[in-house]
Amino acid sequence: MQEFVRRNIKVMVVDAPEEVGRQTARLTAEVIKTHDSPTLGMCTGGTAVPIYRELIGRWSERQFSFQSVTTFNLDEYYPVHPKEPFSYQHFMRDELFRHVDIPTAHVHFPNALTHDPEEACGIYEDLIRKRGGMDLILLGIGSNAHIGFNEPGTPRDSRTRRVTLDESTRQANARFFAALEEVPQHALTMGIATIMDARKVVLSAYGANKVEAIENTLTKDPSAEVPASFLQEHPDCTFVLDREAAASVLE
Ligand code: F6R
Repeated sequence: MQEFVRRNIKVMVVDAPEEVGRQTARLTAEVIKTHDSPTLGMCTGGTAVPIYRELIGRWSERQFSFQSVTTFNLDEYYPVHPKEPFSYQHFMRDELFRHVDIPTAHVHFPNALTHDPEEACGIYEDLIRKRGGMDLILLGIGSNAHIGFNEPGTPRDSRTRRVTLDESTRQANARFFAALEEVPQHALTMGIATIMDARKVVLSAYGANKVEAIENTLTKDPSAEVPASFLQEHPDCTFVLDREAAASVLE
């Protein structure tokens, strides 16, 4: 493993996607083990799969329990029924929650059935705040450097809100749907400021299609054009990358 710091971000480079999952799960397990009632921010998508597989493995070896863990997912398509197979609630149930001992009442998503997204997003922010904030947030990154569904152009002070997905994001996520037309146009997402409030951030990425996003994030000054670049201003941010995703920033 290669480790270095770029623009205030700790970067770990490993050989393969499975190892990205292993290292991210190790960092997550550390937070779970060292907090009495840890609060975690959760991502979904392809990057999350090896992370959650590893976490399930560690949980089944009884390294820790999820009984006292509370989760807040980063985002959800809008509008969407939680039972839809492409919903992020469904993804989280399938990939993590149904395999471990997390109490259902500890699991949170933005309300993607609401008729009043503004109110629902405000409620979500309040819930996170009342819970004392997130100890750790797990992130993936889009090939346009979005985090959550904060697409290029998102300001640093954004909070949980309804957003319109970029065409490139809809195309990238079409692999989880029968056809591109079925990918929702909108989502509810935590904002950049919500993410930055987490006490620790771990962003994971693998594969050649993330190389440009990683390069821009780790070499350019923070700006709304590269949403992940705001993470340079976070006091405790780690990137876990495979060699392909890190190709243009390797020393
Ligand atoms: C998902 C999320 C997104 C993804 C990103 C990468 O909850 O917040 O930012 O992390 O689009 O997606 P994958 O991992 O599928 O390449």
